[in-house]
Amino acid sequence: MRALIVYHSRTGVTENLMRAVGDELESRGHKVEYHRLEPKRPLGYLGAVWAALRRREAELDAALPRTLRTCELVLVAGPVHAGRTSAELNTFLNNMPDGVGRRFGVFATTGGGNAEGQMKSVKMRIEKAGGLIVYEDAVKKAVVNSGQCAARARAIVEQLLRPWVW
Ligand SMILES: Cc1cc2nc3c(=O)[nH]c(=O)nc-3n(C[C@H](O)[C@H](O)[C@H](O)COP(=O)(O)O)c2cc1C
Repeated sequence: MRALIVYHSRTGVTENLMRAVGDELESRGHKVEYHRLEPKRPLGYLGAVWAALRRREAELDAALPRTLRTCELVLVAGPVHAGRTSAELNTFLNNMPDGVGRRFGVFATTGGGNAEGQMKSVKMRIEKAGGLIVYEDAVKKAVVNSGQCAARARAIVEQLLRPWVW
């Protein structure tokens, strides 16, 4: 299958998790493409908190993927900022190409806090675009930065590929 991984990562934690998941998918013969959401003008810590609290979007340095129709699985991931989605992720979620019939996995990384609000908001927007959520997970930064990242990625891929989803 073809998978697209769309993610925002300010300090590399989400990126490391998504690369580990992508590597695991590739090791099982699947094709993986990555799309990192990069801001044109990176915000400082307080600016990022403010943007998340105001539900702002960020101007990105590259166009969003034009279509999701070419892949069977779309993974969407980003850090929790002030309990919410980052401005960069908002830009993707608010302007998503048609996701009708696509299967989605949704991921948040956190400093250890609650990801419930962020996940709910991400899932709502994906479902509004017609996507079907087959897996969701919030992963602590400490897990990604430890030796447990590859094992966690393996467990995630097992779930993503469980037969009754397909
Ligand atoms: C602006 C900002 C706000 C944050 N707010 C939260 C929060 O509300 N709860 C939490 O658990 N972690 C919070 N964090 C920590 C990040 O969610 C966490 O470190 C994440 O794994 C970083 O992912 P990244 O390196 O991919 O950007 C915040 C980090 C930043 C930079």
